[in-house]
Amino acid sequence: MTQRHDRAGFEHPVPSEITPRKLHLGRRAFVLGLGLSAAARAAELRAGPLAPLPAQPDPGVSTTETPTPYADVTGYNNFYEFGTSKSDPARNAGSLHTRPWSVLVDGEVRRPRRFAIEDLLKLAPMQERIYRHRCVEGWSMVIPWLGYSLSALLRAVEPTGNAKYVEYHTLLDPAQMPGQNDPVLAWPYVEGLRLDEAMHPLTLLAFGLYGEVLPNQNGAPLRMVIPWKYGFKGGKSIVRIRLVERQPVTSWMRAVPNWYGFYSNVNPAVSPQNWSQATERRIGQGRFGGLFAPRLKTQLFNGYGEQVAALYRGMDLTRDF
Ligand code: MTE
Repeated sequence: MTQRHDRAGFEHPVPSEITPRKLHLGRRAFVLGLGLSAAARAAELRAGPLAPLPAQPDPGVSTTETPTPYADVTGYNNFYEFGTSKSDPARNAGSLHTRPWSVLVDGEVRRPRRFAIEDLLKLAPMQERIYRHRCVEGWSMVIPWLGYSLSALLRAVEPTGNAKYVEYHTLLDPAQMPGQNDPVLAWPYVEGLRLDEAMHPLTLLAFGLYGEVLPNQNGAPLRMVIPWKYGFKGGKSIVRIRLVERQPVTSWMRAVPNWYGFYSNVNPAVSPQNWSQATERRIGQGRFGGLFAPRLKTQLFNGYGEQVAALYRGMDLTRDF
């Protein structure tokens, strides 16, 4: 198999050799039927050539919708640190070194600590969760993520009574992330959640997708995934998680405050931007990458309302967008 190696020695897929989705799903159904161990199953789930990341499927929170092809999940990205066009991250993110890597978790916690990535990978059982992923630009995907609830990490550092919000930072290093030489955003990329949102079981600390470790362009070695919010809340390549008393000011709020609110819950009825959020285009469906696929109706909270609506009881979602 032909492979491209980046400077860190990671292998990247060559597009023609990525497992077609049908084959992937067929293998998956076959292996699930045999009831193999989680490790064996995850090995079979692999769609690309990166290191496998064994995980236990979590059907309770997974959608049964068809996952977006691996080639689209890893080839159509937003990661401005590597350029602003959709194909830039896959092309340029090889300059990111994901080992050694550590994450500082500090602020309003009783046990502040720097975690090595090796320890984070073992902190809680790895699960596979198939989530809808909705970008504020109007496209969506279905991604089989690997990770565990962020709450497991937050509990380990024991938040104090003053902790009301969680702020997370992407790596700041223009030598590895050349896009940081352009002032398109205030670097590092900062995002945040209210503490109860961060502790919600659906909020995922993701280390992989499609059965293997995250490709650099998807936010290796770890990123946030909050399935009921627009994708930009999911900060990539995280190096610091800070528990704070005041609502963080995020990179996007700083850049375009009228368009990007702190909450940014998926909401078809609220479009602070110049375009409507009522519908979405599912990437990879139909021909020509979904360009001519019928638009789907966007659901409130991206379809996760049953699980998360209670977090926002009594709030005016038009004002607190
Ligand atoms: N994180 C960082 N550090 N930099 C970014 O530019 N883009 C965000 C989010 N996380 C971004 C980021 C946006 S706009 C989206 S839609 C998602 O990542 C895209 O994730 P994906 O490329 O894995 O689909």
